[in-house]
Amino acid sequence: MALMPGAPSKQAGWAIYTVVALAVVAAAVIAFRLLPESSGKVQPTQVEPAVHEKPAASQPLPLIEPSNALQQRAVPEGGEWRVVSQFPRIYVQDGFLSEPECEILKQQVAGRLEPAKVVQKADNQYDEQVSVRNNRQIWLNYTQERDDPDVFHLLKRMHRASRIPDDDAEALQIGHYGVGEKYETHQDSDPRNDVARPATLIVYLNDVEDGGETLFPLGNRHDCTMQWRAAADGSSVFGASACCDRSDLLRVSPKKGRAVLFFNHDAAGRKDRMAQHAACPVKQGSKSTDIRGCMSD
Ligand SMILES: *[C@@H]1O[C@H](CO)[C@@H](O)[C@H](O)[C@H]1NC(C)=O
Repeated sequence: MALMPGAPSKQAGWAIYTVVALAVVAAAVIAFRLLPESSGKVQPTQVEPAVHEKPAASQPLPLIEPSNALQQRAVPEGGEWRVVSQFPRIYVQDGFLSEPECEILKQQVAGRLEPAKVVQKADNQYDEQVSVRNNRQIWLNYTQERDDPDVFHLLKRMHRASRIPDDDAEALQIGHYGVGEKYETHQDSDPRNDVARPATLIVYLNDVEDGGETLFPLGNRHDCTMQWRAAADGSSVFGASACCDRSDLLRVSPKKGRAVLFFNHDAAGRKDRMAQHAACPVKQGSKSTDIRGCMSD
């Protein structure tokens, strides 16, 4: 498998690359513009928070894995989004990027990956950072986004597909997760700390042998917080790992070229805690039954 220079080759088989485009927009208007014309089933998001939480919490959502529901459903032609959750709105599209396009974005990171950081309010201690998130990433700078015609084209497509204006976005972030690397349950948007990201688009740039799902715990998110919990076999499991293999939670498996688009604010523009998600840890080739890691974007 081709990997960019500078990356640790022993992790190549299970490494996952993600592209995350975080859109910073006035949420409410964009939210309604997103709904694809073809998906008549999507209901407008309800604005009363108490009512809002009910549907997702009471209905088990389909597990998304290569072997089940998502694969068995007919794949729409012409790049349509499939609705995998209505509250919050989460959409999946396979083949969003072609194989060569994934390679183009992977090449951008060439030897420049750095430890990923998270926004933190007070203490910014290294150990704390690593327990939240231990993958590596880069952000493309303005020149890289504008001057490379391929990258520019792909960014345009991301914006068009998300119905979000080209300029309403942060820099493109390219992340890399080796074995055991993850990102604990978090919210992409935090307006109180000046991080307003109404929408997130993730594209997986390669196939992952095992693990590395994007987990949306929705109404069960309190089971997936950063705490130690007892696993079924008596061992202890930290954080989202406890949730990553639960069949009743919504997980999107990484697959080369697959895109996940989700909205971090409700249609009224308020931060939506139901949009919390995690990157499940990437696992080893043979699946062990005790500790599961979780990781996210
Ligand atoms: C953007 O990133 C590229 C690649 O690392 C670098 O060569 C270039 O100097 C950067 N440009 C700016 C304006 O920072």
